[in-house]
Amino acid sequence: IAHLAASYGKLVRIKDIALEPIQKSLHQCWQQLQKQVKKGQITTRDAELTMDRISWTTAYDGFENVDLIIEAVVEEETVKQNVFKEISARISTDAIITTNTSTIPLSQLAKHVRNPRRFAGFHFFNPVHRMPLVEVIKAEKTSANTIATLVQLAREWGKVPIVVQDGPGFLVNRILWPYFAEALELLRTGISITDIDQAMFAFGMPMGPFRLMDEVGIDVVWKAGQIMMKYLGNPYPENPILEQMVRSGRLGRKTGRGFYLKKEKGKKRSPVDPHIYRFLELRPSMKMHPTIIQKRILYMMINEATRCLQEKIVESAREVDLALIYGIGFPAFRGGLLAYADQLGIRNFVADMKAFQKAEGERYQPADLLQELANSGHNFYEQS
Ligand code: 3HC
Repeated sequence: IAHLAASYGKLVRIKDIALEPIQKSLHQCWQQLQKQVKKGQITTRDAELTMDRISWTTAYDGFENVDLIIEAVVEEETVKQNVFKEISARISTDAIITTNTSTIPLSQLAKHVRNPRRFAGFHFFNPVHRMPLVEVIKAEKTSANTIATLVQLAREWGKVPIVVQDGPGFLVNRILWPYFAEALELLRTGISITDIDQAMFAFGMPMGPFRLMDEVGIDVVWKAGQIMMKYLGNPYPENPILEQMVRSGRLGRKTGRGFYLKKEKGKKRSPVDPHIYRFLELRPSMKMHPTIIQKRILYMMINEATRCLQEKIVESAREVDLALIYGIGFPAFRGGLLAYADQLGIRNFVADMKAFQKAEGERYQPADLLQELANSGHNFYEQS
């Protein structure tokens, strides 16, 4: 995020608790800039000027002058609350404080900032330089002026902002987590990582759920899942896979081992870790048609997206679809997740969901709005 802001001419100050993570961030910025130089997108001079705009501190020096804070510390409510208390004591009341939290409802954090009117979510997607979406999240007391400023800023930084209401996981992560959870459930019941990832890739996702979990970080997926389940009530069967992996340090790409191993030099893709099944004490012996795998996973996402509409996290199906295309690379040629549901036909979709509900359990119970649409013969795009 520092790299992004500095690339667009902003003076950036990184605050961390130690020098080492700061050095790592600066190194990553420089590497990223070097890639852009190699591609001919910027000159070496541009890269140097961008780096010159980034300064750092381990002690909040200079924070009295900042206009905008983007908090991106670990996904722990209490740590974030403490950081907000520390920052609030040092900045002007006009400064905007934002959080890049993946899942924690802003209502849990807003009480720890001094001026809640100038507090909002500003949620980027990884890799930040590639994913166009930014969720601008409105907390209960966020002023219209704060939202407008953040929307304008995101646009200036070449991003596509979408304003969403507060809630666990906001919009995109709330729909992305069922993608992960149902994939994990399929794995637990004996379908292989390769079959699941290939089915979703064939549908058009840029990568299957296991590859993506490795990219995001198994610890992040686990933690964020726990937070969302705490607030949403757990609709999923007990599944120990992520916890097992986190406890043994299999955190995905950042530790070189997750569901997949590190990519070998010269290879385009990393291989599934051959020891993963023994480690998880699973046998990938079941076969399932790719279309059924796709349905099992996508239907859970459609159901959660429908709940987001019911709860007015966003107003329209169009916004849901746009956010998923720009935030997680949902295949645009499908029209979007809810456009895809419309193409299936809502009545067919609800009938399928009910069949899954009987076979798999209550998590497949269609959301109320789906049932209403099926009864009235409408679909998502007609009603929005
Ligand atoms: N985080 C970090 N890096 C990622 C990533 C992610 N989520 N997804 C892909 N990458 C990296 C890959 O590791 C690879 O790095 P390398 O070149 O150093 O090996 C690089 O991107 C290129 O990947 P591809 O080979 O797939 O190349 P493409 O250029 O065809 O596509 C892409 C790149 C646009 C990033 C595409 O892979 C994509 O859309 N991936 C899905 C990303 C996604 O879903 N992001 C959202 C995650 S959830 C999130 O960020 C919310 C937060 O709150 C947790």
